[in-house]
Amino acid sequence: MYPLNYIEPVFRPPSEWQSLILQVCNGCSYNKCTFCEMYTLEQKKFKPKKVALIEAEMRSIAEAGLPVKRIFLADGDAMTLSTRRLKEILVLIKQYFPGLQRVSSYCLPRNLKNKTVEELTELKELGLSLMYVGCESGDDEVLERVQKGESFDSSLDALQKIKQAGMRSSVMILNGLGGPELSEQHALASAKLMNAAQPDYLSTLVVEFPQGSGDFETAFGIPWRKLGKMELFREMEILLDNLELKKTIFRSDHASNYLVLKGVLGKDKAALLSQVRTAIHQPGLIPLREEWQRGL
Ligand SMILES: C[S@@+](CC[C@H](N)C(=O)[O-])C[C@H]1O[C@@H](n2cnc3c(N)ncnc32)[C@H](O)[C@@H]1O
Ligand code: SF4
Repeated sequence: MYPLNYIEPVFRPPSEWQSLILQVCNGCSYNKCTFCEMYTLEQKKFKPKKVALIEAEMRSIAEAGLPVKRIFLADGDAMTLSTRRLKEILVLIKQYFPGLQRVSSYCLPRNLKNKTVEELTELKELGLSLMYVGCESGDDEVLERVQKGESFDSSLDALQKIKQAGMRSSVMILNGLGGPELSEQHALASAKLMNAAQPDYLSTLVVEFPQGSGDFETAFGIPWRKLGKMELFREMEILLDNLELKKTIFRSDHASNYLVLKGVLGKDKAALLSQVRTAIHQPGLIPLREEWQRGL
């Protein structure tokens, strides 16, 4: 067992399954998105972790000789920490794990507002090379209705800063977030945001409410309901059809998805679109995840 003192629950992107999850702060400093229940428990109140405690954990992992190739800085928005604090942590990471391939973190666009490209470049040089950005949508109305606290412009600014600093970005878009009413504009604006930003990775997740969607629906302000499978596929069709990406690794394989899609955009655009259209027009031909196989 890793000698780590996690404050549970701890979340990480699916692609960080082999990484050491280093909790450098607890919870999410924003914590207002109405669809997100990840850091709502009492013990998950936002708090940066003392650097001395983070170092003690690194030391015990290094001394145990555990193979660490990648580190993910948890929890929800470690990039809210000051550049000075992040540098301090990254220097220690380098010291304890000299052979590391990469360090990554979740990153809200607002986390980068007060960080310059020069500061981000310094962080990149210290090993922080991948930012997971939960854009969720490119549509300002959807973003406002779910209280993301971001907009098309603020999301694009952050993604451009990340690129200018030489870091890579991995964007999350939430399929179904706008409900039936805003589905089309959500897909179109999300494609527009991705086309402008050209992220390195793009993944789509299906919005899910394991504890019920009542509060989310009330806050949304106009009628909202969960999209059915076909509606989700149609939204995906609009998104894919309007994406003009040069070289973005696209993944729609998170456990929340019914239809698993993987490819490189734009190279695989026609093939991916054809899979979605087959799922819509010839149901049964492409295997879908069963409800019991899905999760968050
Ligand atoms: C643990 S959160 C941290 C992300 C980071 N704070 C941000 O907003 O960029 C990771 C992602 O989980 C996804 N997520 C959160 N609530 C969800 C829900 N109810 N259904 C599906 N995905 C959800 C969102 O895409 C979110 O960006
Ligand atoms: S989606 Fe990200 S920013 Fe929004 S509440 Fe969840 S962790 Fe915080």
